[in-house]
Amino acid sequence: MSTPPRVPNTPPDERPKVSLPRIAEMKANGEALVMVTAYDFPSAQAVEEAGVDLVLVGDSAAMTVLGHDSTVPVGMEEMLMLASAVRRGLRTPFLIGDMPFGSYENSNEQAIANAQRFVKEAGCDAVKLERGGASVDRARAIVRAGIPVMGHVGLTPQTATALGGYKAQGRTGETAAKIAEDAFALQSVGCFAIVFEAVPAAVSAAIMPRMEVPVIGIGAGPETDGQVLVFHDLLGIHTGHTPRFVKRYGHVHEDMVAGVRAYVDDVRLGRFPEQEHTYSIDPEELDGLRTYLEQESLAATSPWDW
Ligand code: KIV
Repeated sequence: MSTPPRVPNTPPDERPKVSLPRIAEMKANGEALVMVTAYDFPSAQAVEEAGVDLVLVGDSAAMTVLGHDSTVPVGMEEMLMLASAVRRGLRTPFLIGDMPFGSYENSNEQAIANAQRFVKEAGCDAVKLERGGASVDRARAIVRAGIPVMGHVGLTPQTATALGGYKAQGRTGETAAKIAEDAFALQSVGCFAIVFEAVPAAVSAAIMPRMEVPVIGIGAGPETDGQVLVFHDLLGIHTGHTPRFVKRYGHVHEDMVAGVRAYVDDVRLGRFPEQEHTYSIDPEELDGLRTYLEQESLAATSPWDW
């Protein structure tokens, strides 16, 4: 991947909205495409401000924000709620909604209907689906319905069980060829970009010269057109296992625990709230309250109450 210097930290107000032609142009120019996941309004605001090009509301939300142990359980309604929140926090990046497991496999009609929901109800610019094989047909149908589609090959977490677990794919000549075959099929039906996940760097490098659409890698080496990381992995928002391909750029979980712990201590030791955190009242108005309280307490002890 050749990466000529990008305009550094262009203020968000001056950044043009990222479009499909711009994404294709970036590939043609050899400019690195930067993609990250986001799942809610504040994470969307953060990635907007940081200047990423593409934002994926990944079904990794099942694990990162909903606490499941795989991406399989998350459904359309949850994904739409998260994608809508992300939409409200974004202005410039290209927004992709990840079609959850069970939302597109059954038929082209099901795939089109759910892709339309991402666009109509959540304001997404595109959708992503996993795998080659039957998914190629689904991708073709969605593209023909006028919705841009991103493909995803290599390690496809929705079907990790069938792949033998969360492990690198394409480590034999045969499985590497299958990744190439799926990627070529997805680009031939009109996918505007394809994610390569957990694929040996040499396999990506060998396939890249045949890729006409941008390839966004996650654990796929430096030769792809861009990179994607999961927001919670890159910022260290969770404490669990992170795959080999993750680079941590923050330790937000530790910061969150430290912040809440300091608050707990302050409340218990009477250090919070302080004067600056309280509201005032005009002394005459306070007298009014005192008068009321005196009268009220006299009435409460009046013998006539018997
Ligand atoms: O769901 C997700 O976060 C993804 C990325 C890892 C590409 O599919």
